[in-house]
Amino acid sequence: MDVQEKVVIVDYGSQVTQLIARRVREAGVYSEIHPCTIPLDDLKAMQPSAVILSGGPASVSDEDSPQLDAGILGLGIPVLGICYGMQLIANELGGSLAQSSDREYGRADLSLLADSPLWDGLPKEGVHKVWMSHGDKVLAPPPGFEVIGRTKNVDVAAMADENRRFYAVQFHPEVHHTEDGAQMLRNFLFKVAGLKGDWSMSSFAEAVIGELREKIGDRKVVCGLSGGIDSTVVAVLLSKAIGDNLHCIFVDNGLLRAGEGTEVVGYLDEHFKLQLHYVQAQEEFLSKLRGVDDPEEKRKIIGRTFIEVFEREAKDIKDVSYLAQGTLYPDVIESVSFKGPSAVIKSHHNVGGLPDIMELDLVEPLRELFKDEVRKVAVELGLPDFVIWRHPFPGPGLAIRILGEITDERLEILRQADRIVQDELHASDWYRKVWQGFAVLLPLKTVGVMGDDRTYEHVIALRVVDSVDAMTADWTRLPSEVLARISSRIINEVKGVNRVVYDISSKPPSTIEWE
Ligand code: XMP
Repeated sequence: MDVQEKVVIVDYGSQVTQLIARRVREAGVYSEIHPCTIPLDDLKAMQPSAVILSGGPASVSDEDSPQLDAGILGLGIPVLGICYGMQLIANELGGSLAQSSDREYGRADLSLLADSPLWDGLPKEGVHKVWMSHGDKVLAPPPGFEVIGRTKNVDVAAMADENRRFYAVQFHPEVHHTEDGAQMLRNFLFKVAGLKGDWSMSSFAEAVIGELREKIGDRKVVCGLSGGIDSTVVAVLLSKAIGDNLHCIFVDNGLLRAGEGTEVVGYLDEHFKLQLHYVQAQEEFLSKLRGVDDPEEKRKIIGRTFIEVFEREAKDIKDVSYLAQGTLYPDVIESVSFKGPSAVIKSHHNVGGLPDIMELDLVEPLRELFKDEVRKVAVELGLPDFVIWRHPFPGPGLAIRILGEITDERLEILRQADRIVQDELHASDWYRKVWQGFAVLLPLKTVGVMGDDRTYEHVIALRVVDSVDAMTADWTRLPSEVLARISSRIINEVKGVNRVVYDISSKPPSTIEWE
């Protein structure tokens, strides 16, 4: 991206690398994450104002451990090494490392040993709570470096070579548990690298639009719209960048909830005059799902059918070069680790699925962002609240909220129950406060009584969670009046349901969806 101040984060595979990028953006500096295999020339071409080397799970002495390209230290720009990044710097410049088979996790108390721009604004006395996660540690810093911080277990917890503007810390300043971490990162950006920090999400939208226009030129792009905020923001950015060369495809798979998708797609069509291909493929999906009750099997069928339908539709649009996707950072890390695919918990993030088959190049303008950052972009783009605050809705839709087999009757029951949940969350002003809220149909039958009759009907589970990025979540402490209203409305209004239960499990160990 063509911005004046840019920090490149070189990723060595830490689970929290994206948090570094995020903190840098929060400080008003544009940042990009690149894998540690990035060629030096490519990195130079980006003209970074500073480089941050992330942490990572490897040990510098491991046989095929990821290495530091020493050329980075020859660029004459400030470098901050975090954890594994620190060990790489120490190793490269002649410090010594101690290996350890035990990793140290958790809080530690950092004492500041010297004045340093990195500690600017921090009290010199006392200790600073920091978060450690490391195996190896630096025993002696390289020539030219001064030790500027230590903890009980780590003598060289922070080191600096002020002349060359190289800084390194053994702890993680990017995580919340490091109390002054954000200040330390800001110090690196502003006191060490002398940046201004005048970047914001509005410059992000502007810059992305310019970049997309340049990259795509007059070629055509297809974009799958889901009705959710991610694909909506991607479509709007592209529509502003390339106008009529954007073709949007919306597939109705018969598994949408009442009104899901259609409102947003209608809005987009009206306001952005998209070339919209609205595909009614309900029967195609539902017939293939008949008799299937295994969740992974359902996902596979839906994923495959989606690709078939999407491909068929895209083929009718001639000479398409790109496929646009609303991939966010958490999708990327849940799908790939630095060396390859990590354990698949649920096969839902089809990152890399469609383009391989369609042989199209990918456009993923939101790949580095978190959901709340996408919302900020949406605000910048002037999108309405109902788009911005819409809860995430999974690709396989209601299929994974009906446990077991999907039938027309079950879909109808779930749609009605879910509509009540949505209405009541809005009416009680809880909709915007929670990450996601929805109904799940448990097609077990339990006994109830209505009037003088004994009933034997389905259970609806209510799932409402708080989260920041769906990677962890906790059940929302909804007021009992709201719960009571949802429950009594569902039981009274939805035929076929005589019991409502509230899910009080957190993620982990549970997941947000039930399947
Ligand atoms: P879990 O259930 O894994 O959900 O805690 C995390 C987030 O991902 C959504 N989700 C999906 N999204 N396809 C999707 O596009 C899927 O198969 C899928 N499964 C879960 C879920 O709604 C939550 O926001």
